[in-house]
Amino acid sequence: MSFRRACVIGHPVAHSRSPLIHKHWLNELHIDGDYLRHDVPPDQIAAFLRNFSASGFVGANVTVPHKEAAFRALNQADPVATHLKAANTLWLENGDLHGMNTDVYGFLAHLDESAPDWNQRDNAAVVLGAGGAARAIVYALKERGIPKIHVVNRTVPRAEAIAAEFGKNVVASGWGDLPKRLREASLLVNATSLGMTGQPPLEIDVKPLPSTATVYDIVYVPLETALLAAARKRGLRTVDGLGMLLHQAVPGFEKWFGVRPQVSGTLRAVLLQDLGAKARA
Ligand code: ATR
Repeated sequence: MSFRRACVIGHPVAHSRSPLIHKHWLNELHIDGDYLRHDVPPDQIAAFLRNFSASGFVGANVTVPHKEAAFRALNQADPVATHLKAANTLWLENGDLHGMNTDVYGFLAHLDESAPDWNQRDNAAVVLGAGGAARAIVYALKERGIPKIHVVNRTVPRAEAIAAEFGKNVVASGWGDLPKRLREASLLVNATSLGMTGQPPLEIDVKPLPSTATVYDIVYVPLETALLAAARKRGLRTVDGLGMLLHQAVPGFEKWFGVRPQVSGTLRAVLLQDLGAKARA
């Protein structure tokens, strides 16, 4: 295979860990390729994607704030991107721009790996947040047949919009209802930005959760958020956000470079070292 280059498109994009992940796989698999950060301002994204085949890239990951613009630019989209109207992985096929959304896959792959029996109980799930990440997670939980999904958000109309979109077993609530919702939950997911370094803390009491519940925080800076620390202290099973980031990268790498890469302990260690270095800086 000839030399190939892919990139991550965002604005800003300097914080993205995607190059670390893809360069690790390129080295590990001895593939002649590269993966770069490519900052595209919002007023240039439509034109950039329209001319993507002239960019020299075989494909791209897409991060905030361009996932919706990426979806609109596609000639063909997979069912998940079509539903979410957002794409995070792009590639060229016969000159056409194809896209998919691998956030749903990444969320579930990491959950299945970390807590294989998480879906054994016929209980509800609680999703905190109502942004793009929360929508992808509600899609994932519906796909797995979770009987009731509570979307809890500060701005209740945003949660209601998700409930209206996904149907009757998705229920919207404000933060005030959280203790009641937690009592019947077997899975709690934080899909807000709260608890991330530089953001306000996520201050919730995990006490009402059943002792068999799993707590998943998609925030990965810091790796052990206050939510996960509190859940661990209570003896609950916890799932951190780093694995979702690693797994969502797999399908894109396979499209661009022709080999399905592994999410290994070595890759996780590379990322952990980088996160540690950044946290100390
Ligand atoms: P993304 O698309 O990455 O999920 P987003 O659309 O900005 O990002 O969503 C961020 C989520 O974090 C939202 O659910 C937001 O709540 P609102 O819809 O009420 O804005 C939540 N969030 C961010 N800061 C918050 C805060 N200080 N208190 C409560 N919720 C917060």
